[in-house]
Amino acid sequence: NKVVLAYSGGLDTSAIVPWLKENYNCEVVAFVADVGQGEEELAGVEEKAIASGASSCYVVDLKEQFVKDVIFPTLKTGAIYEGQYLLGTAVARPIIAAAQVEVARKVGADALCHGCTGKGNDQVRFESAFAALAPDLEVIAPWREWDMRSRPDLLNYLEERNIPCSASVTKIYSRDANLWHISTEGGELEDPWNAPTEQVWTWTKEPEQAPDTPVYLTLSFDKGEWVGLNGDAIEPVSAIDALNKLAGEHAVGRLDMVENRLVGMKSRGCYETPAGEVLYAALQGLESLVLDRTTQDYRIRLGNEFAQLLYDGRWFTPLRDVMLAAAEKIAEPLTGDVVVKLYKGNVTVTQKRSPNSLYSNAFATFDEDEVYNQKHAEGFIRLYSLASRIRALHAQSDEAA
Ligand code: ARG
Ligand code: SIN
Repeated sequence: NKVVLAYSGGLDTSAIVPWLKENYNCEVVAFVADVGQGEEELAGVEEKAIASGASSCYVVDLKEQFVKDVIFPTLKTGAIYEGQYLLGTAVARPIIAAAQVEVARKVGADALCHGCTGKGNDQVRFESAFAALAPDLEVIAPWREWDMRSRPDLLNYLEERNIPCSASVTKIYSRDANLWHISTEGGELEDPWNAPTEQVWTWTKEPEQAPDTPVYLTLSFDKGEWVGLNGDAIEPVSAIDALNKLAGEHAVGRLDMVENRLVGMKSRGCYETPAGEVLYAALQGLESLVLDRTTQDYRIRLGNEFAQLLYDGRWFTPLRDVMLAAAEKIAEPLTGDVVVKLYKGNVTVTQKRSPNSLYSNAFATFDEDEVYNQKHAEGFIRLYSLASRIRALHAQSDEAA
């Protein structure tokens, strides 16, 4: 028996290794997805996995693929969950799950295991991906089986087995980080009446602490894809990293929200997505210039629906391909430059241009023009409001009777 575990090096998955061996009598292969969570989390992770009892540990660098296959396509759909959340955790799940399945195939495993709780969205996202990619493999979710409930429980469990673990008893928050975002949940945040304290935020400064001078950036897009910064071509992974730092410095990218989980309950999360917020705003600026009214309206609805699909773990479905194809088509004319201003927690678009711009000063001007006959508006409004006129005439004649 061989199980591939999505391992992070944290306390939960460290306890899962011996638990699997004892309860499933199996060999445990650790799989670590590098989705840009950073050096601190990744340092020594293989040694940790082996020390916990894993037979081997695969660390797979997914960063480029993450950006190319998930982050940029998702950005083109304009996906935003419940009007606020840029889906930073949800976007990473499909790519992690797929790479985990690949490792399972390579080592000939018969089961997949994850450390998500039985109360959250992530279990649904992982297992829906597993169902689509590896229906033949068994899925093990220890949090739904064991009766350990707290950090002290897990620490005791490891101590009893003499397994070294550097995790502290007092870690307050549950965090999830990748190239695109970091989420912070739990602790005192579980009461929505508690304002987030300073220690909640790790990537972004307080607006009050941000520089007094704004920074202006020129972002270039090609068919809806970010390709340039201040006139230079970018390399996506390092550019997102750099933009996170710069925008975070200017306090851009914070979100504190109560959201509806797929499994029914509401939960409170503090999310930091600095680069994401900047790119989202810039792309919207470009869209406003280039898309006609009905296409733009359709794009907004597509964004809502794609957010739902992603949040709910339906990445590996035919509908995803349909929606991404639509988004790609809509994004075709989104080529151009946008200037954004970052200042004390705000990102604002101050300049935009595109060879495909539909904005026409000849039509829009308040001054005299040659192209638009204002008389045409009269007949348009007459017909546009015809139903209202008929209803009102009806009411008048009823009154008279
Ligand atoms: N509530 C967010 C979401 O469902 C963040 C979840 C964070 N996940 C985690 N394993 N800490 O996308
Ligand atoms: C978890 O419960 O494992 C994390 C939060 C979530 O999945 O929504």
